[in-house]
Amino acid sequence: MKRVIVITSGKGGVGKTTTAINLGAAMNIFGREVLIVDGNLTTPNVGIHFGSPEVPVTLNHVLSNKAEVFEAVYEHESGLKIIPASLSVKELKKIKPEKIGNFKKDFTKISDIVVVDSSAGLGNEATSVMAVADELIIVTNPEMPAITDALKTLKLAQEMKKPILGVIITKVREDDIEMQPDVVKEMLEIPILGMVPYDLSVSKSLNMKDAVVHTHPKSKAARAYKEIAAKILNVKYDSKKDAENFIEKILKKFGFGKKRK
Ligand SMILES: Nc1ncnc2c1ncn2[C@@H]1O[C@H](COP(=O)(O)OP(=O)(O)OP(=O)(O)O)[C@@H](O)[C@H]1O
Ligand SMILES: [Mg+2]
Repeated sequence: MKRVIVITSGKGGVGKTTTAINLGAAMNIFGREVLIVDGNLTTPNVGIHFGSPEVPVTLNHVLSNKAEVFEAVYEHESGLKIIPASLSVKELKKIKPEKIGNFKKDFTKISDIVVVDSSAGLGNEATSVMAVADELIIVTNPEMPAITDALKTLKLAQEMKKPILGVIITKVREDDIEMQPDVVKEMLEIPILGMVPYDLSVSKSLNMKDAVVHTHPKSKAARAYKEIAAKILNVKYDSKKDAENFIEKILKKFGFGKKRK
């Protein structure tokens, strides 16, 4: 079955792009063909996360009928396919986000699963991207402003009659200052797909220009994303078994850990 999953949030900086690329990469690890589309046209980040900030043909060219969808597809070494958006300020004025709906069918011809990252806010750009969704995922953090914006997004999605796969709470820390997951659950009244801990491996992966599920596959954040991807795909995955074992930890400490290619 073809699935177009849009990652949205309302509030900015909550972890949408991190979620889009890691869920996409995790589903790819589970053997699915995945395309990640950067639907954040004004402040795109997907290309930056994968170390290819500027490419010749982008989603912006596709939306302005200057290129075909397949010309804007780039393949990551993992097999993951990506359609980046343009970083050029010149391209900004020409953006017509509502056109993205015209290309939904073409996206699904490229991969069975299409994950679309979106911009913050609930303006024309974000809602145009929400409109292409078969399913929506709302990303939020355990803080009042992020939850309030997630609720707004939820109401809008319901008005648009879009099915919501659930909420992903990211950057979860284990301290008393944060809202407890139970409280968040109660406020949102929709299923929680998963929680991703605050994990420095995420920042390190950004520096290494790749998804954390690739750079630090056994980290807490990577395992959380794999767990959520497994849930979405209805496949088996044991996060505890995937954790670094005692011997691996010792080896790493002494510099004998597995090296990345
Ligand atoms: N689980 C995590 N642990 C630690 N840092 C994280 C985690 N998830 C995301 N971050 C960091 O939070 C910052 C914002 O993340 P990201 O860019 O994914 O958010 P966003 O919602 O896409 O932002 P924007 O609304 O600007 O597009 C980044 O620096 C990212 O590395
Ligand atoms: Mg983003």
